[in-house]
Amino acid sequence: MSLQLLGGMSPQQFLDEYWQKKPLLIRQAVTDFPELIDLTRLIELAVRDDVESRLIECRDGRWHMEHGPFRPTRFNRLPASDWTVLVQNVNQHVDHVSELLYRFNFLPYTRLDDLMISYAPPGGSVGPHYDSYDVFLLQVGGRKRWQISSDDAGNFVEDAPIRVLKDFQSEQEWVLEHGDMLYLPPKYAHHGVALDPGMTYSIGFRAPKTQEVASRFLEFLGDNLQLDGMLSDPGRAATATPARIDADFVGSIQAMLQQISWDDATVQRFIGEYFTEPKSHVVYEAPDDALDFDDFAEAVAEHGIALDLKSQMLFDAEHIYINGELLECAAEAMSVLQQLANARALPPGDYDDTVLDTLYECYDYGYLHVAG
Ligand code: SIN
Ligand code: CO
Repeated sequence: MSLQLLGGMSPQQFLDEYWQKKPLLIRQAVTDFPELIDLTRLIELAVRDDVESRLIECRDGRWHMEHGPFRPTRFNRLPASDWTVLVQNVNQHVDHVSELLYRFNFLPYTRLDDLMISYAPPGGSVGPHYDSYDVFLLQVGGRKRWQISSDDAGNFVEDAPIRVLKDFQSEQEWVLEHGDMLYLPPKYAHHGVALDPGMTYSIGFRAPKTQEVASRFLEFLGDNLQLDGMLSDPGRAATATPARIDADFVGSIQAMLQQISWDDATVQRFIGEYFTEPKSHVVYEAPDDALDFDDFAEAVAEHGIALDLKSQMLFDAEHIYINGELLECAAEAMSVLQQLANARALPPGDYDDTVLDTLYECYDYGYLHVAG
């Protein structure tokens, strides 16, 4: 299946040739934007305290960065050029932006992170830099000149609040117009400068560091560990050096620690919980006037359901996970819940009570809503 989003390539062709390997410019990757976001709407998000945002300016050759939440008036005091406002996770707040992010669902949700939107007037830039993650940079309105370089070895500008490469040497450059998109693998240096006012939608990916995964796994293990036994020393000899940690004692503690073990099932459950864990600023809102179970079942039959934009749902062979938790559910409900996790929605239909019970519980937590 070829995708316009990937310049007429199939997802597999793109993954084989470009993913994590080399950049790709795709002219007119998106021509059917469901809707566009304007600067006013972006600023409405940048003033919220449950949304991460930044303002980056370059004044007289010096970089400045401010973190949101911003006062609305902050945006009245900006010059006509040379600044960029960036808002993270817009997909969690705006339906049509979430729809765009999930067009990239040829990659698993464990890898797909968020859609960030930046707006910049002419001259706006965050400087030459590289990111540790893959990114698709989609131009929405206006024009931006992108220069890129495979050389990631440069030094960074000292005393700058953001990581800006000091000796960036462009190897290739393009001007991106509305609907054009640039894919960059991790650590590929890039420098975008707005030519006309416009936005960049950055589709970002998640690639946790080994250290992070290991320490989170050890926490998970600590929370779930159930070991038997306690220290005992029936054959102990008297000591003349009571402060000494002797070899026998080390051996006893070592034997205890060697009882710590895990298997694939443990790792699977860890993945399910860790990769669906909500980001720190996320709150789910229970419905104001919650429907009772029967009305909910009727509404689902008529309208179907959609996951909340902030919900993360994954499954493995035996379990369903949502928003950092294992979802208890009947075996008969599994396949419909897997369908919900993949599509993030279920069409109208008469679902089994085992399915509806689980959906109702999630509805009550604000994890999903009746569609429409
Ligand atoms: C931008 O939106 O201008 C910056 C995005 C990036 O370089 O990652
Ligand atoms: Co970047």
